[in-house]
Amino acid sequence: MSEVLEKIKSRRSIRKYKEEQIPQDILDQIIESGMYAANGMGYQNTIMIQVTNKKLRDEISRMNCEIGGWKEGFDPFYGAPAMIIVLAKKDWRNKAYDGSLVMGNLMLAAHELGIGSCWIHRAKEEFETEWGKNLLKSLGIEEEYEGVGHCALGYVAGEYPQAAPRKENRVYYVK
Ligand SMILES: Cc1cc2nc3c(=O)[nH]c(=O)nc-3n(C[C@H](O)[C@H](O)[C@H](O)COP(=O)(O)O)c2cc1C
Repeated sequence: MSEVLEKIKSRRSIRKYKEEQIPQDILDQIIESGMYAANGMGYQNTIMIQVTNKKLRDEISRMNCEIGGWKEGFDPFYGAPAMIIVLAKKDWRNKAYDGSLVMGNLMLAAHELGIGSCWIHRAKEEFETEWGKNLLKSLGIEEEYEGVGHCALGYVAGEYPQAAPRKENRVYYVK
């Protein structure tokens, strides 16, 4: 099997991470993979925010936990020390498709580079809050963006998860 196909099949969502931070040159390669995702009409209407700052990472985790309705103290990022948040222009009709493809590239690139990842949701709700809007403003992002997902990133702790068996009869052939 080609190495690319093998990586696609063996990537899993990781829900336990080591504290060790990912070097910036590895994060840069992951981010670059997101920059090259296919996108509607070639408009490149997505942006990414890398968060490795612990204070902000923890603040996002608290906000995500609150939106998710979990008990205070739960970390929806499972201890991951880094994340890349993907957002897309709010008025762009392909925002969810484009953003999801960026997310897919990030997760696969991370896996290829030996980094665990997990899509953590509720970015949409996060960036609808004043807190989220102010965060964008503080980064000099003036246009309106919708949160698509957070790609939690870190070195895998514990056992690597097994893929669930694939459900059958999901492909139809017209030859
Ligand atoms: C749109 C979307 C949202 C997700 N949100 C979360 C999430 O908030 N927390 C989480 O632990 N996993 C989340 N996941 C990961 C899925 O649970 C995971 O991809 C699925 O169980 C299949 O497992 P695998 O990625 O290991 O193949 C999300 C995945 C997608 C595509």
